[in-house]
Amino acid sequence: MKVLVLTSGGDAPGMNRVIYALYRHFGKNLYASRYGYRGLIQNDIIRVSEIGIEKCKNLAGSIIKSARCPEFAEDKFFKKALKNAKAFDYIIVLGGNGTHKGACRLAENGVKTIFIPATIDNDVEGSDYSLGFHTAVKGACEFIFNTLPSYQSDNACCIYEVMGRYKNDIAINVASIVDADKCIICEEDINFAELTKLINSINKQERASCIVLRERIYPVQNLVEQLRLKCPKVYFKGMNVGRVQRASRPTKREIYFAKAFAKGAIKAIKQNKKCASVLIKEGKVKIIDNI
Ligand code: F6P
Repeated sequence: MKVLVLTSGGDAPGMNRVIYALYRHFGKNLYASRYGYRGLIQNDIIRVSEIGIEKCKNLAGSIIKSARCPEFAEDKFFKKALKNAKAFDYIIVLGGNGTHKGACRLAENGVKTIFIPATIDNDVEGSDYSLGFHTAVKGACEFIFNTLPSYQSDNACCIYEVMGRYKNDIAINVASIVDADKCIICEEDINFAELTKLINSINKQERASCIVLRERIYPVQNLVEQLRLKCPKVYFKGMNVGRVQRASRPTKREIYFAKAFAKGAIKAIKQNKKCASVLIKEGKVKIIDNI
């Protein structure tokens, strides 16, 4: 049996561990499409046994590369990808909702596919968990824990922008863990009068204030500029937590999930599924038919 794995969209910590677990099972019969669906279009396919997956199994990122590939939705490119995909008995795809759509389209055209939710945003429809989220939260918290103490020295106001696309999970979890003074997850949360009062009062208590801002709500530097005008005595620092969230070493819990997802994918293949997703529901791995 020839199995192909690909990672698509933004990389998520734990992807390498899934690939390793699949490799342990399929050995030389496991292939990888580089750069997600783009590799399928360009037939950029390699044998996983040749890339030293053992060495990076516990590292973030994706050794087989991950990319967003909007052209995969275009018929001309999809046909090319489909032709290359037909050389395999199964394709296992890791990614978010867009990646899932691509897998279903391949399956509708006769290629058996298994989808594994893998995105730090934790926004995959139908799954309580998507690979990478736990590590992303840890990465963002570490970033705050490693910077905030210095800003305590000058009672600064720190605004940390975290990822999550349109989902609030990272922001809410991070804000709770670091004991943030405010978590901004929607436009209504930006009330300048209230924020000014809060920041000034914390500054008077001679401590730094910590605000967690979900991305795509309000540009962090603009927020800093506006608040600087309103609180001229306070030193402000806007920080984009950024890729630390995706680059952090997968937590032990993440590794546990990675192995569980891989095991689910192997089980789905054994059950001869045509188009299935391996999801987490109420703490348990579920194999769900898409078609
Ligand atoms: O989907 C994962 C994610 O990290 C989102 O949280 C974020 O909006 C986006 O990707 C950022 O992507 P990039 O680092 O490529 O700009």
